[in-house]
Amino acid sequence: MTEVAPDLEGLKREAAREALTRVTSGMRLGLGTGSTMAHFLDLLGEALASGTLTDVVGVPTSIRTAEHARRLSIPLGSLHELQPLDLAVDGADEVDPNLDLVKGLGGALLREKMVVQAARRFVVIADDSKVVPRLGTRSPLPVEVVPFSWESHLALLEELGGRPVLRVEDGGVAVKTDNGNLILDVHFQGGITDPASLERALLPRAGVVDTGLFLGMAAEAVLAGEGGIRVHSRAGEVDP
Ligand code: A5P
Repeated sequence: MTEVAPDLEGLKREAAREALTRVTSGMRLGLGTGSTMAHFLDLLGEALASGTLTDVVGVPTSIRTAEHARRLSIPLGSLHELQPLDLAVDGADEVDPNLDLVKGLGGALLREKMVVQAARRFVVIADDSKVVPRLGTRSPLPVEVVPFSWESHLALLEELGGRPVLRVEDGGVAVKTDNGNLILDVHFQGGITDPASLERALLPRAGVVDTGLFLGMAAEAVLAGEGGIRVHSRAGEVDP
């Protein structure tokens, strides 16, 4: 029997549609980055154009998101002018049972984390394929580092059990983030045993700007699968 591949874009759109029900007129929103968020932006743009929502303003987490939002006439502002934000919505590369996340395969992890930290509530949207029993099993952990002597971090990352790989474009040129930094994608065989202690080991290090670990930050995960939408909140699974 031939297996039918799930319609991932359709699932991402359903998660985005459910998250949009958390948005009310007048809200200040954090707007994440990625293909799932692209659906959220399209739906938000439609709601603003039809007048279903009014007076919403967003803080984009990347140049890509800002450009997409501008094309849809979604009003944008800067983080320092608009904080605290009412709600941040963003995708993820991995979601574990504690609602801890790995983010940053799209390269926007630093601005994403700044925006999430400035929001009263953070809702993550994803299709079911992002759900993992343990962080680091599906995705490498992106770590944003300044370009100066980035190689100096490799030994520590290896000591911490990882296999760091500099992110490069097709031609082999190092990818630069919107902040002009580099990304090390750190692979962990069997996943990350203790994400909190890994974060504690990396963040104080000069030259490491941030990691893609989003621990204890998401209040709710809206997950779309073949069986429909599931909403996980810190209090447990709830009906959408
Ligand atoms: C961007 O830097 C990432 O954190 C994205 O949020 C994450 O990669 C999810 O992207 P997709 O929705 O495209 O999978």
